[in-house]
Amino acid sequence: MKSYLKSPLLLAVLLLNLCCKTETPPSGLVTKNAMVVSARQEASAIGSAILAKGGNAFDAMVATELALAVAYPFAGNLGGGGFMVYRKANGDVGSIDYREKAPASAHRDLYLDEAGNVIPGMSTLGATAVGVPGTIAGITEVHAKMGSLPFDEILAPVIALAKKGVVVTEKQAKSMASQREIIAKISGEQSLFAQHYVAGDTIKYPALATTLAAIAKGGRKAFYEGEMAEKIAAFIQERGGFITREDLANYEAVWRQPVIFNYKDLRIISMSPPSSGGVTMHQIFKMIEPYNMKDFGHNSPQSIQLFTEASRRAYADRNFFLGDPDFSPIPLDVLLSDAYLKERMSNFSFDKATLSSEVSHGAIQIMESEETTHYSIVDQDGNAVSVTTTLNGAFGSKLYSEELGFFFNNEMDDFSAKAGVPNMFGLIGAEANSIAPGKRMLSSMTPTIVEKEGKLWLVVGTPGGSTIITAVAQTILNAYEHGLSMQDAVNAPRFHHQWLPDTVIFEPEGFSKNTLSTLKEKGYLINEERTRIIGKVDAIRVLENGQLEAGADPRGDDAAVGF
Ligand code: GLY
Repeated sequence: MKSYLKSPLLLAVLLLNLCCKTETPPSGLVTKNAMVVSARQEASAIGSAILAKGGNAFDAMVATELALAVAYPFAGNLGGGGFMVYRKANGDVGSIDYREKAPASAHRDLYLDEAGNVIPGMSTLGATAVGVPGTIAGITEVHAKMGSLPFDEILAPVIALAKKGVVVTEKQAKSMASQREIIAKISGEQSLFAQHYVAGDTIKYPALATTLAAIAKGGRKAFYEGEMAEKIAAFIQERGGFITREDLANYEAVWRQPVIFNYKDLRIISMSPPSSGGVTMHQIFKMIEPYNMKDFGHNSPQSIQLFTEASRRAYADRNFFLGDPDFSPIPLDVLLSDAYLKERMSNFSFDKATLSSEVSHGAIQIMESEETTHYSIVDQDGNAVSVTTTLNGAFGSKLYSEELGFFFNNEMDDFSAKAGVPNMFGLIGAEANSIAPGKRMLSSMTPTIVEKEGKLWLVVGTPGGSTIITAVAQTILNAYEHGLSMQDAVNAPRFHHQWLPDTVIFEPEGFSKNTLSTLKEKGYLINEERTRIIGKVDAIRVLENGQLEAGADPRGDDAAVGF
């Protein structure tokens, strides 16, 4: 972690906001009209160029999503899925779910051996881990309903990028090197991604360009039916996986009512199940709302305690109650009621940590990761989209099709393979998220839009597996309660608690020894060995003068482009 976490500017802004109620001046890139913030400069530039030629935020979504599949194959994808939350300039809000689905032949015990134990690797690596991809269905559905430019015109610069190639960054070279061996094992030594790359190399993607050109011409059908679907099904099945042509033909993206709630004078619009993001964040915010977090101070022991205790309780509910709403009814009326959330916090005290065993039971190891990717867009008319998309693990299942030019997800691991056994994020699940044919696996993705005084204020989201929800919530609180600019709210150090394991995780820098020892004295279990970053938030703030401020996370290669 760099010294940006210790910025004196951040301190100055905090002090300024303690005394005055004016808008915090921006510290990130500011543009007048429109902006795209994503994990790669190339993708943000393509999205922004689509806006500049008169496209709207939904056209730019299509372009950015696919440009990330080219420039950020770590998580950008054709072989994965995602969620998008939108707010149109007229105030209409909505969301689309293009989450992967279990194949029709999947069943509850798919990943268990005869003794009923989880078979290691089967839901995380190779063809057996792959869920039916949703990305192309999602973007073609969005384009058909909300787009304005011709589909092939939007894809043209993406195809050109795949042909021209993308320069490997320092961070990308590291992530590719760390995954090279396992990709070679799953996809073969000859695979494009099993080669050695160093920063500055240019990787060209001719196979992906051909696949994208077919999609530009044939739309959704080109992917889910006919020759390409046949190739995908054969490729997966030859390697022991389960996806059939029928699974692909039957895949549909679903428009869903987002989760909407108020926090003080904010209106927060986020993703509903099968993502747990909106519901869990709603619970966290409502549990902390009765307290005056601003007075506690940014990342003070009291603020951390309050947020941690709310997260502990919300994640315990998440893991038990949430799943695909089309398969298991979720008691949202109770889970989100004021009375329930008040009762949930009734045993919270600033004197002493609640133990997770008092909230529920279990003991597991956490295995965090930084997959998934998020982008935020505001167009020149004021339409906003917030999109999080994923392959699940880094490069998904590590299964790469040389012929089609993309990786397949390992999203089947987001189901609970067996109640009580953790997935790769250390999250344990219950019956609500068990495997069933055609079911969507529970997600933590939290694409979010925030209104202040009835106007668009923030567009925000992040990767980070189970840490997504807490990273998004902290970014909103940093901007709202602690008065940080968008960029500083993104830069600020983050922490995370998810009920089990009963451990608070802190980013490597930015939390003082005093803060940590105060928390330890109160009984908090702190993970001191694990010092990874938490999330890569990409966000936009609408300033009072209508201009846009970016928060592009310096933890990655993330970049904002606009005009
Ligand atoms: N695969 C990460 C998530 O959906 O939360």
